[in-house]
Amino acid sequence: MTRTYINDLQNKVGEEVSISGWIDVRRDQGKMVFLDLRDVKGKVQAVVLPMHTEALEVAQRVRPEWVVRVSAKVNKRPERNVKAGVPNGDIELEVLGIEILNEAETPVFDVSSDGHEIGEETRLKYRYLDLRRPRMQRNFRMRHDVLLHLRNFYAQHGFMEIETPSLTKSTPEGSRDYVVPSRLDQGKFYALPQSPQQYKQLLMAAGFERYVQVARCFRDEDTRGDRQPEFTQIDMEMSFVTEEDVMQINEALIIDMVTKLYPEKRIQQVPFPRIPYKEAMEKYGNDKPDIREDKEDPNLLAFVWVVDFPFFEKTDTGAWTFTHNPFSAPKPEFMQDLMEKKNIEGILAAQYDMALNGFEIGGGSIRNHNPEALKKVFEIMGHSLEGIEKNFGHMLTALASGTPPHGGLAFGFDRLMMILHNEPNIREVIAFAKTGEGRDPMMESPSEISHEQLQELGINITKKK
Ligand code: AMO
Repeated sequence: MTRTYINDLQNKVGEEVSISGWIDVRRDQGKMVFLDLRDVKGKVQAVVLPMHTEALEVAQRVRPEWVVRVSAKVNKRPERNVKAGVPNGDIELEVLGIEILNEAETPVFDVSSDGHEIGEETRLKYRYLDLRRPRMQRNFRMRHDVLLHLRNFYAQHGFMEIETPSLTKSTPEGSRDYVVPSRLDQGKFYALPQSPQQYKQLLMAAGFERYVQVARCFRDEDTRGDRQPEFTQIDMEMSFVTEEDVMQINEALIIDMVTKLYPEKRIQQVPFPRIPYKEAMEKYGNDKPDIREDKEDPNLLAFVWVVDFPFFEKTDTGAWTFTHNPFSAPKPEFMQDLMEKKNIEGILAAQYDMALNGFEIGGGSIRNHNPEALKKVFEIMGHSLEGIEKNFGHMLTALASGTPPHGGLAFGFDRLMMILHNEPNIREVIAFAKTGEGRDPMMESPSEISHEQLQELGINITKKK
């Protein structure tokens, strides 16, 4: 018999069906056994009656998380047994036969709870079990739906998804790089991308005009609740645009997505308010202000743009560094200052961040498409001419070969999902997340590699304690 998914049982009342899934709960009442069955689409209660002796014998043996195929008749429940408001609360399966497809050891933790009571290390070590809990199943179902929605939205607006390399070169994006040793060129290293920033700009140089990518990014920085060593960006870039254009299309995208996929949520203010960086710092003490008018409301989404960021700031050693992205353009009225390297502290960048309920969920800028102006940025930061040529020569050459004006933005997709689902951290929306110390307790990574592998790479380990 073909398989019926549990969410289709409503249409099969009076029929005989075959369903496949897990034993969620088993209640043995001696003469008969009640089973809650679960598959990827839902749950349903089943009863094994005394007259089905063979099925009853199997039902007495099965345990939670065993995998079974059940043949059953779909019955309407008598009025007094209907559970209102519960999916499938008005039907019940009368089990005719049970086939055990796989047994399961007693799970190390309960997979029907929300899981917050279990230690993180244990949850990550048995992640495949942890992901069975309904909350996690919903998080990933919705993560898929949101991703699909965003991709379609961009595609409908003429954006093309183009993949960029994971083995690349160190980029100056402010964090530490993860590096990968080269075997063929011993002593040299690739870096995993902190973001596809340079590649997407090079795609604008290549004339694609509208690029988007669901991009995995890697940053070797201390992990926090809203930070993982690898995370996902929805990364986009477009040509012949102003700040206004980039902000408008991304704001429209977010509003469209929330309205269609999270109708229970309320966006506090549309169009999203805009706060200059200076005001945000003065009023809220940070550049990702939480402007919710009611912080108790789990369905309130307070989006806000933060704009007018200073381009440069002083480092601890007194040198100038960029605040966000060295490839950003100054706001047009500050271009002259940049070219003349004056009023450095006053130069504002054509940069915009999107914050949501106190988290930075995205950011971007209009880029500097003038190679001479980009050179000035690096000069202000104290790079030598050779240094600029060595590290950014490819960007300068590309800009000098007919690159259109362009700009873009990247959303931190995990953070967005975390907030949409009122989760306390982004591990709850990343299938195989790492611990606070950047470890994967399930795979046990990072791990040592063999002596042969090290030799092949020409690497000697000087052990730290
Ligand atoms: P930025 O560095 O601001 O910009 O990153 C964009 C967004 O990515 C998210 N994010 C993170 N999420 C989880 N874990 C992390 N470690 C982490 N780091 C950042 C944040 C952030 O807003 N190339 C530019 C974008 C551009 O200018 O187009 C960039 O990477 O939500």
